[in-house]
Amino acid sequence: MEAYIFDWLNLLLRWLHVITAIAWIGSSFYFVWLDNSLVKPTDPELQEKGVGGELWAVHGGGFYNPQKYLLAPKAVPEHLHWFYWESYSTWLSGFALFSLLYLFNANVFLVDKNVFDMSGSMAGGTAIAFLVFNWLIYDAICSSIGDRPNGERLANILVGLQVVVSVWAACHLFSGRAAFLISGASLATIMSANVLVWIIPGQRKMVAAMRAGQAPDPIHGKRGKQRSVHNTYFTLPVLFAMLSNHYSMTYAAPHNWVVLLMIMAAGALIRQFFVLRHKGVNNWWYPGVAVALLLAVAIGLSPMMRGKPVPAALHHAAEAKPVAGDGAETEPAPAGTGGVSFAQVQQVIQARCIQCHAEKSTLMPVPGKGVLLDSREHIAQHAQQIYQQAYVAKSMPLGNMTHITDEERAVIGKWFEAGAATN
Ligand code: HEC
Repeated sequence: MEAYIFDWLNLLLRWLHVITAIAWIGSSFYFVWLDNSLVKPTDPELQEKGVGGELWAVHGGGFYNPQKYLLAPKAVPEHLHWFYWESYSTWLSGFALFSLLYLFNANVFLVDKNVFDMSGSMAGGTAIAFLVFNWLIYDAICSSIGDRPNGERLANILVGLQVVVSVWAACHLFSGRAAFLISGASLATIMSANVLVWIIPGQRKMVAAMRAGQAPDPIHGKRGKQRSVHNTYFTLPVLFAMLSNHYSMTYAAPHNWVVLLMIMAAGALIRQFFVLRHKGVNNWWYPGVAVALLLAVAIGLSPMMRGKPVPAALHHAAEAKPVAGDGAETEPAPAGTGGVSFAQVQQVIQARCIQCHAEKSTLMPVPGKGVLLDSREHIAQHAQQIYQQAYVAKSMPLGNMTHITDEERAVIGKWFEAGAATN
């Protein structure tokens, strides 16, 4: 019952998070596009009103004509739409989902003892500190250097460096899967905090000054712009990080931090292409370099480059040494099973998997992804996935908490490649 409620919470929070994120990023994309697509009005009446750029669009059967004022309209309209709930609700729902999935189960999801040995609560605390410190450092860079005249360039370089260091640190502290997510979450936290701490309060001060009949301080506009620009380039990298936990070939790679940085760089370059394209410039170098980066990652991670399938040594190891354990059942394997009997496979699964994949899992409140591996039928049903997760991608056992050996992985590999017989 508990597991069932947990699944529903997971579903509802994830649904909410995706919806609010679409609303946030959608409006952000729209405004970047709008800003870069404006043309100077020809109508003298508009120019007289202070309109610096306008755009005509047709959408959903209606004609739209947004206008952007050079500074501000002469009088601030009474009803002014603000954009911030998209951002806040995305962060809040994302943090709730992160807490439910990762923090409540920190010893399973955050810790990989081969990466960094720490307790679950320590890992949970570190993850939260990671988000907070990333924001504080970023904010210090932007406020101390970015606000200076001509300081923007240096600030941007430092922010880029910060991303590199923080991705490296995450991948050396947390399990690969969690490290990617936390790297994305820390950029997303910066994005949302930019809205909360600088962009919206700056706009409020500008509006208040105008309502009081004073000229708004241009620093608010400058600051808001700088933070918005960073948010624009963070968007695609963050989205990849959020999706990455479906793709173990990326986060379970040996130098996973390099993989994440290369894919993030590709995302930022693609965004840059579109930003320029809205202004009428098509610089194909950006997507060209992005595609080259992605190709390099894809080739670098391919089984061919990493010496798979099945290093011969492993085959021999598996033949020479039956599964670790009490060695009770090592009947000769039937012909055509790759020299591995089903009993051996079942023994590996019992030793290394059912702690998290049985009705009453001992290491997790709920069997991982609802996958049960506690009977012959269940193993047969999931044979392909078992092979994929435990042998090809090596993403299971999660964080190798149950210390599976390469020989045992090879048992699974050979069993499946020989037809996955279950008799
Ligand atoms: C420490 C707990 C743990 C252990 C041990 C473990 N798993 Fe998992 N497994 C999980 C979790 C958690 C998930 C769900 C991951 C997710 O939500 O993407 C999962 C998911 C899976 C999936 C489904 C993956 C998918 O995306 O379809 C398979 C298959 C699987 N595990 C196989 C295995 C095998 C085989 C072993 C033993 C060699 C094993 N697991 C050991 C926790 C574990």
